[in-house]
Amino acid sequence: MWFGPGFADNSGITRALTIRPQKAARSRAAAHELQPTDLRLGHIVRLLMEHATVVVSGTKIAQEIDSSRSEVWRLIQQLRGLGVDVAGHPATGYQLRSVPDLLLPEIIRPMVRGTIFAKDLHHFYKIGSTNTAAMAAAADGAPEGSVFLAEEQTAGRGRGANTWHSARSTGIYCSVILRPLLPPSDVLILSLAAGLAVQSAIHQVDSRVSADLKWPNDLLVEGKKVCGILAEMNAEATRVRHIVVGIGINVNQASFPNDLPATSLRLATGREWSRVELIGALLKSLDREYRTLVNGADAYESVRQRFVENSTWVIGKRVRIEENGSAFEGTTEGLDSRGFLQVRTSHGVHTVLSGTVRER
Ligand code: BTN
Repeated sequence: MWFGPGFADNSGITRALTIRPQKAARSRAAAHELQPTDLRLGHIVRLLMEHATVVVSGTKIAQEIDSSRSEVWRLIQQLRGLGVDVAGHPATGYQLRSVPDLLLPEIIRPMVRGTIFAKDLHHFYKIGSTNTAAMAAAADGAPEGSVFLAEEQTAGRGRGANTWHSARSTGIYCSVILRPLLPPSDVLILSLAAGLAVQSAIHQVDSRVSADLKWPNDLLVEGKKVCGILAEMNAEATRVRHIVVGIGINVNQASFPNDLPATSLRLATGREWSRVELIGALLKSLDREYRTLVNGADAYESVRQRFVENSTWVIGKRVRIEENGSAFEGTTEGLDSRGFLQVRTSHGVHTVLSGTVRER
């Protein structure tokens, strides 16, 4: 979910894409970034999951992760601190009481095998912002398909000046690095495709939930925001160097402060969701959208058309647009060939390049 200084204006987009200089991204990353998760934690969880019905000895785990038994005990204590329910102690061995809903690469990787996201998965228990970390890594040459996942963000960023409140293990905080051969002017389509991917992933996990797409890429359930996407790119005039697509989904929040127009999938459906299942579906769906977009001849038109079909905002909605310090009202009239929103006003049709869209 999000709040921030611009919260009341934050149901739309202020800038569809933000271009950040490499150096600034790097120093921001240094300031915010915390240590990635010790890979041995994921390894232990995977081992315990694979032997879910038996107690696994400390010696076996120590062998598997190439450590000592006392180190295993220390790591198990760390896992418990993170909410993983492990029974046992060094003398008896260890057993999982329930499958943990943590976004560990060891758990996610098998689910996304065959996609561009299976190779470079990075997990953080706590980080400033996955987008900041991904932008810095991309500037340092991280490969396309790198994924940055966090249980908690301490400086989660939304569009404009907004922050994205990212409480521990209730939401999905995910950023991916893409390196499409596209001119910067075509990148909005990619951002729309990311919204379609989230919409489809949510629907795959629970077909009762049909999230509405609010241009350019917020997702709403019952009129309240359930997902926001922050696409940031580093580009030359004619060529994109890299794009980071950051996705925040409100999954298991039980409430929101005051009267924020936000909801979570749990509030909408009355049940806890598996974040693991949802991120698996999301990365697969994003992989499909992305491959189609960079390979397919009619891909732009397909994204545009599906966005129009799956959004109540793009045609015939009375809206108020706030853009570059001014505002106007009109009725939405579709998307142009690059995905920009068309709004009919008393002065003719206006193309919205960026800005906040609100219902009138
Ligand atoms: C919005 O304002 O609607 C966009 C919110 C995007 C939030 C996500 S959470 C993962 C990634 N890391 C960030 O700091 N922001 C994005």
